[in-house]
Formats: sequence, C-alpha cells, structure tokens
Amino acid sequence: MRIVFVGCGFVSDYYLKTLPLHPHLELIGCFDQDCDRADHLAKRTWSKSYNSLDDVLADANVDIVVNLTNPRSHYSITQAALMAGKHVYSEKPIAMTMAEAKELADLANQKNLQLSCAPCSCLSESAQTLWKALRQEVVGPVRLVYAEMDDGLVHKMPYQQWVSTSGIPWPFQDEFEVGCTLEHAGYYLTWLTMFFGPAASVTAFSSCLIPAADKHPEVTLSPSDTPDFSVACIKFVSGVVARLTCSIVAPHDHSLRIIGDQGIAGIDDCWYYGDPVYVQRMVKIRRKVFMSPVKKKYPLVRRAPKFNYNGAQQMDFCRGVAEMAEAITEGRPNRLATDFSLHNNELAIAIQNALETGCTYPLTTSFEPIQPMPWAMA
Ligand SMILES: NC(=O)c1ccc[n+]([C@@H]2O[C@H](COP(=O)([O-])OP(=O)(O)OC[C@H]3O[C@@H](n4cnc5c(N)ncnc54)[C@H](O)[C@@H]3O)[C@@H](O)[C@H]2O)c1
Repeated sequence: MRIVFVGCGFVSDYYLKTLPLHPHLELIGCFDQDCDRADHLAKRTWSKSYNSLDDVLADANVDIVVNLTNPRSHYSITQAALMAGKHVYSEKPIAMTMAEAKELADLANQKNLQLSCAPCSCLSESAQTLWKALRQEVVGPVRLVYAEMDDGLVHKMPYQQWVSTSGIPWPFQDEFEVGCTLEHAGYYLTWLTMFFGPAASVTAFSSCLIPAADKHPEVTLSPSDTPDFSVACIKFVSGVVARLTCSIVAPHDHSLRIIGDQGIAGIDDCWYYGDPVYVQRMVKIRRKVFMSPVKKKYPLVRRAPKFNYNGAQQMDFCRGVAEMAEAITEGRPNRLATDFSLHNNELAIAIQNALETGCTYPLTTSFEPIQPMPWAMA
C-alpha cells in the first residue's frame, strides 16, 4: 500500500520512526503547507515532495492519505482526500465537531472508502493482553473502570524546548488551543470501547483551570479557555461504568484499573506498547475480604517491538495505518473501522464540550464488535 503523509510536523517523525516495522507500507511522498518541512521529510525518505494537496490527490499511485495536520485542518484535508477516492488514516480527532466528523464518516461509507482515526494504541501488546485477560474473566465480571490521562503541569515544564528527533518543536499553542481532552481522551476511549462495546451515555464536566496568560504570557491563545481538565463517567450498553480523567494539571498518571468482582486488572501507562499487565486479586481470610497488595504479572501475549526513538511514549504510530492497509488488501473488516473511530470521536467531543454546567449526553453512534489481533486470540 502506497501512502503519503500530509502534515510533516512534530508527529510525522514518530510515524517515520515506526514505518520500518511495516514493510507492506510504502511512503511515496509528503506534503505540508510549509514547503520546507515537506522537502526536508522527502529528502530524508527518498520520497516525493508534492507542491499541493491537489497534486497528492491527483496521483493515482496514492492509496492512503495519512492526515498528520493540526486538528483544525483535519476536516478539510480528509474531506478532499475522500472526495478524490483515497482512503484516509487521520490523526485524532476526525474533526473538531461531531457534525463534521459524521459528514466525513458518511462520505467514506458512501464511497466505500476506509476512514480510521488515531490513536491505535488499542492494538498494542498491552491493550491486547489486557483484553485477553478480561475475556478469560481473570477478575470476574467487570463493574467499574478508572482511567487516568493526566500529564502534569505542562505549563510549568520547559515545553518550548521539546523537539522531535528531527528538531521540529512541539506545537504548544495548537495543543493548548485544541485541549488535552481532544488530544488525549482517545488513548483510553479506544481501549474501553474495544473491551466493553459501544457507550450508551456519558456524563461529563470540563473546565479551564490554568488561565491562558499562565500557559504562555506572550502568546494569545484562541480560544483562550479550552478545558485543560475533564472528567467523564461513561455508561456502556453492556452495563460497565468507566470514569475517565484528562488533564494537564494533575501529576502524571496514565494508569488504568479495571475492577471486577474478584479483583483488579490494570496497567500503569497506555503510552508504552509493552507496559506490563498486572492482576490483583480479592483475598478472603476468615471473615475479611480485601484486595491483595501483590500485583501479579499477566504474561504479555507477545513482546512489544523496540522503538528507535526517545520520547514520552513508546508507541507504534504506524500500526493503525498498517491495520487499515491489511484490512483493505485482505478484504476483511478494519479493527479501527470508520464507525468505531466515529463513536470514540463522539465521546471525546461530548466530554470536551460538557463545560462546567456538565451534561448527560446519549450517544448517537455505535459500531460492530472488534476482533482481537490474531496474535492475541485467547
Ligand atoms: N504533538 C504530539 O505529541 C502528538 C502526538 C500524537 C499525535 N499528535 C497529533 O498529530 C497531529 C499533528 O500534530 P503535530 O504535533 O505534528 O503538529 P505540528 O504543528 O508539529 O505539525 C502539523 C503540520 O501540519 C501542517 N498543516 C496544517 N494544516 C495544513 C494544511 N491545511 N495543509 C497542509 N499542511 C498543513 C503544518 O504546517 C504542520 O507542519 C495532530 O492531530 C495531533 O493531535 C500529536
């Protein structure tokens, strides 16, 4: 499958670093509105630097457009690519509003094209192992989940010095303006919906706790008050309830605890594809029942690859693109299908938009059950 990166910024480096893990993906070119960035990436990859998006879309050799632009450009790029008959793998979110995301999903379905949205970490060794453990009911019936996506006080960190491996700065302004919920909720939403199926409703609260001037005194953020904290209680059709927290305020915590009648199954950080899965069991001694302090390792279904980059994460960014390519080639359902991606986007957008009045939002979308990865079947 021949792919093109549209958007050659910070995250494109991580896609590039994990591309060699998927030899069936061939990067044939790149495009960015900043020509220098596209030229630089094209030179490093011996691929073509396109002069315009129209040139990319007119190229019959392009099978999949990998949309790595900033979130507020996702809609227009994905729409143009689908109209031109290209499959699209988009960084999160699909679009900034549910109306736009739904329009793109409808367009993809009408044209019989694939539209998937990152993150793809639910295909990681850790996620697939945890899912296997749940299918084996290692903690009995699941009742409750606590998922945390807290990244610490980012505005107090030297974020202006954060650069990708090729020296591209972390786009702090865009990150603050788009907000940590749209940026990060998906890292656990995708796991939860894959494990427990579609959500029925979400009750959420979101708020901006750090004023714009404290995030960056010289840059005017627009909007200035995007939530930097959110908490959501998601009720799944299956009956499970999950509480998901996202912030760039509370100390770093990316943990997941899945609570069943017989114990807890969890991991410490979903940004590490090989993060160990543990199980803590309920112990009964005489008339008392308590949670054992011992965290037993549940064996990973396979070893995660070694990643050839430094960063706050160790993730195979290209695994979702590879999944899409294999699904197209093999004529089978894509695990990150359009409807699955749309459902997770609906959840993230509802949480972000809840604001301080809060709301209970009934989900309007759903998706078909997903198959585990072949190497993680129970
Ligand atoms: N920064 C991270 O740590 C990180 C991690 C994972 C995923 N992501 C996601 O990756 C995506 C890109 O983020 P980034 O950090 O690379 O941002 P970035 O600002 O570093 O790069 C985005 C690039 O897209 C280009 N672009 C924007 N609009 C365009 C358009 N209409 N046409 C052509 N080019 C356009 C910009 O010129 C820029 O070079 C976002 O969706 C983000 O959520 C970011």
